[in-house]
Amino acid sequence: MQVSFDPRWAPADLIAQAATLGQETVVEVSGGVELRPAEMRNAEMGTGDVEVQGTALKILSLADAPAIPVALGKSEKLASEELRLKHRHLDLRRADLQANLILRHKLQQVTRRFLDSRGFLELETPILSKPAPSGARDYIVPSRIHSGEFYALPQSPQLYKQLLMVSGFDRYFQIARCFRDEDLRADRQPEFTQIDIEASFVGAEDIMSLTEDMFGPLFKEAGFEIEPKYARMTYADAMESYGIDRPDLRYGLTLFDAREIFDGSDFTVTSSVLGSGGRVRGIRIPGGAALSRKQVDEVEAIAKTGGAGGLLRLKRSPTGLEGPAAKFLSDASKERLALNEGDLCLLVAGSETVTSTSLDRVRQDVAQRLGIIPEKKLAFLWVTDFPLFAKDENGVLTSVHHPFTSPHPDDLELLESAPEEVRALAYDVVLNGTELGGGSIRIHDSMVQARVFKALGINDEMARARFGFLLDALKSGAPPHGGIAIGFDRLAMMLSGAPSLRDVIAFPKTTTARSLFDDAPSPLSAEELRDLHIEVKRK
Ligand code: AMO
Repeated sequence: MQVSFDPRWAPADLIAQAATLGQETVVEVSGGVELRPAEMRNAEMGTGDVEVQGTALKILSLADAPAIPVALGKSEKLASEELRLKHRHLDLRRADLQANLILRHKLQQVTRRFLDSRGFLELETPILSKPAPSGARDYIVPSRIHSGEFYALPQSPQLYKQLLMVSGFDRYFQIARCFRDEDLRADRQPEFTQIDIEASFVGAEDIMSLTEDMFGPLFKEAGFEIEPKYARMTYADAMESYGIDRPDLRYGLTLFDAREIFDGSDFTVTSSVLGSGGRVRGIRIPGGAALSRKQVDEVEAIAKTGGAGGLLRLKRSPTGLEGPAAKFLSDASKERLALNEGDLCLLVAGSETVTSTSLDRVRQDVAQRLGIIPEKKLAFLWVTDFPLFAKDENGVLTSVHHPFTSPHPDDLELLESAPEEVRALAYDVVLNGTELGGGSIRIHDSMVQARVFKALGINDEMARARFGFLLDALKSGAPPHGGIAIGFDRLAMMLSGAPSLRDVIAFPKTTTARSLFDDAPSPLSAEELRDLHIEVKRK
């Protein structure tokens, strides 16, 4: 609200005092609300038609000159993000961040109302919990009372929500804070929030429908009308056609298998890879021949970050097929390549993983360059039939979701003989290439749970020590159950159109897991460390 002090209604000393007021000072003002003269009205301001004609002024709190610009004029630029995170209390006064946090609040209320209306109970689970490293590292809290013992902050309430099902609560949810000590990216924070859901006597379809039903009002709150049901794709199809398990379906440019095109040709780049069990895969880019050599070189550099040795280029010009491999291709192969004039085809020869990883990156980069991504579109997708296990870089089996995910009942016999072929009853919900959430039907049979632990190299003794409470619970009459967790910060980020998770979290951490305004983490005094029975070895 604009306030004015004018000799027509304010004494001279009051006007002099008002003239000393600096930015961001907190004041109490008395005066009448009046219409502004027509030429002074401001249509861009909610209260732009009126002003307070100040007749009394009290300073409630003086403010130092703000360290970063707060009320940004049109020509003013934002301060650097580092500076803004350091002075977060000031940055949060900006209209953009205010709007994001208000939306975040509203989304939480919509979530609560929706899940309550479906009979879900909001139940809290412990923050000081048992260390159970899974995908990421745990954040650890030392116990003062129990020397040498530690709590962990939960990576998710997974086991607690399963125990609640065993206890007969049947429908649970929580807007749950989770903590993961992992390498951070723009869409990850060390502490983040999930809409965490679990229900008994459900199948995957029930959880997928529930999620779709919940997203309707959530997206509506942010002004989006969305489709009631989402596309489905198996993990295998997603990897084959997009090279990634969370494809962005707003645009085409799917991957294809080019083995048949290069089979039998003398082009050594492809024949050596095909001969040693590798693959040749590519992307046809309609109109892609318009990309300059320099641009395609840049795309190639991106392919190399995914492990590709190089990017093979074939383009169709008015005179025919051009590119290093063209003269090695038979007419039939050229026909099969199916390029129209002006099209470009980019190919990678390599292992399954290398062709997937690099072509996924190529696909995303080319779509950006060609400007073919419809920014307003919302392309939802369920990815299903994930494998239960994958091998890590050391060849060790790990869970693709988590070790409590149920194997597909048809694949149970393969648990010991061919674990990598076992499918999981797991599903991820993907929006425009971002994984918004994931869940699964859980193992509710302690024998199956023990077999899965064994496949993961967790022997009986280790399983007892780490998950004894779960195994006992599963033997106490556990209903079939399953659930999902939606990344709430990611949801808020996409719905507010913010570029980073940090823009929808009041007090976020940096990508090196630091909090800049209060400078956490920080060292403890020798005395505090002694109380915790901890000795620090400096690096
Ligand atoms: P998952 O680990 O897939 O599943 O997590 C669910 C969703 O949480 C979000 N998310 C994150 N958001 C911000 N920063 C992070 N570091 C981060 N990590 C994950 C993602 C992800 O899809 N207990 C299971 C769920 C279940 O099976 O019910 C779980 O936590 O959007």
